[in-house]
Amino acid sequence: MAIKTVDLCKIYESGEKEIKALNNVNVEIKKGELVAIIGKSGSGKTTLLNMIGGLDTPTSGEIYIGEKEISRLSDDELTESRRNRIGFIFQNYNLIPVLNVYENITFPVQLDGRKPDDNYIEDMLKVLEISSKKTALPSSLSGGQQQRVAIARALVNHPEIVLADEPTGNLDMAMGNEVIKFLKKMNELYNQTIVIVTHDQDIAAQMDRIITIADGSVINDKEVCIKNSSKK
Ligand SMILES: Nc1ncnc2c1ncn2[C@@H]1O[C@H](COP(=O)(O)OP(=O)(O)OP(=O)(O)O)[C@@H](O)[C@H]1O
Ligand SMILES: [Mg+2]
Repeated sequence: MAIKTVDLCKIYESGEKEIKALNNVNVEIKKGELVAIIGKSGSGKTTLLNMIGGLDTPTSGEIYIGEKEISRLSDDELTESRRNRIGFIFQNYNLIPVLNVYENITFPVQLDGRKPDDNYIEDMLKVLEISSKKTALPSSLSGGQQQRVAIARALVNHPEIVLADEPTGNLDMAMGNEVIKFLKKMNELYNQTIVIVTHDQDIAAQMDRIITIADGSVINDKEVCIKNSSKK
C-alpha cells in the first residue's frame, strides 16, 4: 500500500463557522496506481491532497505513507518525509522565473545539499521531450512545456508518490492531454504512485481509478479497468 487514510477529517474554523472540508475519508491507494480525484469545486479535493502530501494536518484520523503514519509527525519530520517521498505538481507550474529548466528541476536536490543525478535527469528530459530546453528560462516555454519541467522537478528526488492538483487546469485541451500522456509515461517507467485532482472527465477516464468526492466524503471509488491489477 502506498497511501492509506483512516477516518480522515478536516474542519476549518472560519470566524464563528466550522467548515467540514473532509468527513471520514477512507482511501487506500496501491503502489504504482494512477488515481484521479474528481468532484465539484469546494468538495475537498485539494484538502485531501494537501493532507496526503503533509502540507496540512488533519483534525482527526490517520494518514499512512507506506507503513508510516504521518499525521502526528513533527514539522521537521514532516518536511523530511515530504522532501524524500513526495513530489508535487501544481496548476500554475510554480517554476522559478530566474532559473533555467535544469536549475528548476534540480532545485529540490540543491535544497538538500545533494548532487543531482544527471543521467536520470537527462533520461527524464528525453522522455518529456524537453532535452533541447535545458538552459531555457521558463518564460520562453509553452504552458505544456513548463508543466513538463514541473513533472521532472517533482520526480527528481525519486519520490514514491506524485501529487498533482489540477495539473492541466491552465492548459488548453491539446496541451493538457500531452501533460497527462507524459505523466502516464513517467508512471510506466518509474512506477510512482500518482494522484491527480482534475475537473476533466476525459482525463480521469485515462487513470486506473477514479475517486469522486462530494461535501468532504468519498461518494464513488471505481477502477477504470484492470490493466494494473498486478500492482500492490
Ligand atoms: N484554509 C482554509 N480555511 C477555511 N476554509 C477552507 C480552507 N481551505 C479550504 N477551505 C474550505 O474547505 C472546503 C474544501 O476546499 P478545497 O479547496 O479542498 O476544495 P476543492 O475540491 O479543491 O475545490 P476546487 O475544485 O475549487 O479547487 C471548501 O468549502 C473551502 O472553502
Ligand atoms: Mg482545489
